[in-house]
Amino acid sequence: MRTLRTIREVRDALAPLRAVSRIGLVPTMGAFHAGHESLIAAARAECDVVVVSLFVNPTQFGQTADLESYPRNEARDAGIAAEAGVDLLFAPPVEEMYPDGFQTWIEVTELGSVLEGAFRPGHFRAVATVCCKLFNIVRPDVAYFGQKDAQQVEVVRRLIRDLDLELELRVLPTVRDEDGLALSSRNALLSPEEREQAAALARALATRDPAAARRLLNGYDVDYVEVAPFDPPVLAAAVRIGDTRLIDNVPLEGAPR
Ligand code: PAJ
Repeated sequence: MRTLRTIREVRDALAPLRAVSRIGLVPTMGAFHAGHESLIAAARAECDVVVVSLFVNPTQFGQTADLESYPRNEARDAGIAAEAGVDLLFAPPVEEMYPDGFQTWIEVTELGSVLEGAFRPGHFRAVATVCCKLFNIVRPDVAYFGQKDAQQVEVVRRLIRDLDLELELRVLPTVRDEDGLALSSRNALLSPEEREQAAALARALATRDPAAARRLLNGYDVDYVEVAPFDPPVLAAAVRIGDTRLIDNVPLEGAPR
């Protein structure tokens, strides 16, 4: 596995492979867990060349405290990626992605402003922009995303359609701990007691019933519990446990993804 820091290096590495290879991209912010690993494994199984991006995108964080506390361990992540058969790890510094004078943004207007978007203004604009940049840099045949972030999937699907981007979107099911808690890099920030409280979120969503879920989350600091008309429709929720904000969702119909 090669770790690359610049856009030029990625383009040069992929140029000779492009015509003959199926290129898969897994966009990530690092702090790998089994959820990331499932996306990487799917890319490895389905593509000739697997590119993983590791970039803690500063613009998609609301508060600097959240950005600063985001778990980072590139050496560990690089080990996991190499072990999983990743070919290229693209881990650029912030200036490489946002050079001085950067001022062009992609806004998925409606989808980006409801649910998560209502609580995190500007979040999906930053996600759509960085994903579009990564798609332009890597020009993958397929990009891999997790159903865990259902609204992100919906925003990226709309971005691909609306801007006629030539890539396939693959969505993989949410990987969970034994007690149902969806794996998330932010789980590392929970105290043991908070970790136990967090399991209530998955139990509530497992009812697949918004009223029942709200009842089970009574006493929690809930941002929303809503049915979202995505593809597939999901019951989605966000709760705050101490200083950590957790999101999760369950598909309500169709093949689980
Ligand atoms: P990050 O949170 O690192 O997640 C990277 C990918 O892993 C996303 O597609 C996410 O949905 C998926 N993922 C996270 N937890 C998962 C789980 N428990 N099961 C299955 N998949 C899971 O999402 C981002 O980074 C960023 O917003 C990014 C798309 C990289 C743009 O900056």
